[in-house]
Amino acid sequence: MSFDLNTLIRKNIRELKPYSSARLEHPAGRAVFLDANENPYNPPLNRYPDPLHRELRKKIAEELGVAPEKIFTGNGSDEAIDLLFRATCDPGIHNVTAVDPTYGMYRVAAAIHGTEYRQARLNEDFSLHPGRVLEKTDRNTRLIFLCSPNNPTGNLLDREAMQELVGRFAGLVVVDEAYIDFAPEGSMMPYLDRFPNLVVLQTFSKARAAAGIRLGMALASSQLISVLDIIKAPYNLNTLTLEAGIKILSMHREKEEWIRLIRREKERLRTFLLKHPEVETVFPSDANFILVRFRNAGKMKIWLERQGIMVRDRSREPGCSGCLRITVGSREENDNLIKQIERYET
Ligand SMILES: Cc1ncc(COP(=O)(O)O)c(C=O)c1O
Repeated sequence: MSFDLNTLIRKNIRELKPYSSARLEHPAGRAVFLDANENPYNPPLNRYPDPLHRELRKKIAEELGVAPEKIFTGNGSDEAIDLLFRATCDPGIHNVTAVDPTYGMYRVAAAIHGTEYRQARLNEDFSLHPGRVLEKTDRNTRLIFLCSPNNPTGNLLDREAMQELVGRFAGLVVVDEAYIDFAPEGSMMPYLDRFPNLVVLQTFSKARAAAGIRLGMALASSQLISVLDIIKAPYNLNTLTLEAGIKILSMHREKEEWIRLIRREKERLRTFLLKHPEVETVFPSDANFILVRFRNAGKMKIWLERQGIMVRDRSREPGCSGCLRITVGSREENDNLIKQIERYET
C-alpha cells in the first residue's frame, strides 16, 4: 500500500512554525552563553539541556542498530503516545484502533485528544487477527496500536500477523515493545526500513530497570521523527535523565543478568501457581509479569493487599475475567508472594 505521511499529519502541524529554542540555535559547547537567560552559577544544572538529545540518541542508535534520525526520545513512551495523537488526530474527526485487552493509556490518550477509540479484540487465546482489526478502521483512522508482548496478557503478538497489518493499513501502526527485552525474539525493529508507517515504542522503564528517570523512545521514519521533534516541549528531557540514560545504556551485563533472574523467577512462580487449587489458568508470558485467573480474584487481591502485596486486578478487561496481573519481583518478594498465597484460606 502506498504511503504518504503528509496526508496523516494535521494541517496545523504541517503549517506550524516551530519554537526555536536557544540551545537548538546554539548547542552547548565552548562559548559565552548569554542567549537563554540562564543563571551563570551552579554548573552544569544551570544550563538548558540539548533539545534533540543528540548524544543520547547516538548511543541508542549504536545499541539498537537504528539510525539516530529514526529515534525520538521523550518522557517515557507515554510521551511518544501522546505526541502521535497530537501529530495526527484532529479532535472529533479522526479515530484510532487498539486491540483489547491492552495497555490502558491508548484509550486515555484518545480521550484526552477528543479522538474516538475503536476497540478491536484479540482472539480468545490473545493472538492477533489482522482482518478483524482492519474491519474497525476507515479512512479517518490514523493510528492502530499493538502491544507486543501485550500488557496485561503477557504474550508476544505474531510477527507475520503484525507485518500483514502494517502492510495493509494506510495509517500508522504503533507497536509498543515496552516488554520486548524479556521475550526471546519478536521485535518489529528490523522492519522499520521496509515499512514507513511502522512506529516501534521502547522504554527504559522495564528491562533497563529505570522507570524513575522517565525515558522512552519511538523508532520510526526520519520524517515522522522530525514531526514529533517539532511538537514536543523544547526541553522534554532534563539533564539528569540524559546523563542517567547514557550511563544505563552501557550497563549491558547488568541488564542481561536482570533479565535472566526475572525469567527464572517467572518460571518458579508459574510452576507454583499452576499447582495451586485457587488458580484456574496461568497464561503464558513473554514479559516480566504473569496474568493469572483465580477462582476468586477479588478475594485473593484483598488478601494479598492485607499482607502488604500489591497486584493489579485486570478482571474487568475483555477476556480477562477473574484475572490478576502479577509482576515478577525479586527472589525474596516472590518467596513472600508464594508464602502468602499458600496461607490464603477460602
Ligand atoms: C505496554 C506499555 N507501554 C508503555 C508503558 C509506559 O512506559 P513508560 O514508562 O516508558 O512511559 C507501559 C507501562 O507500564 C506499558 O505497560
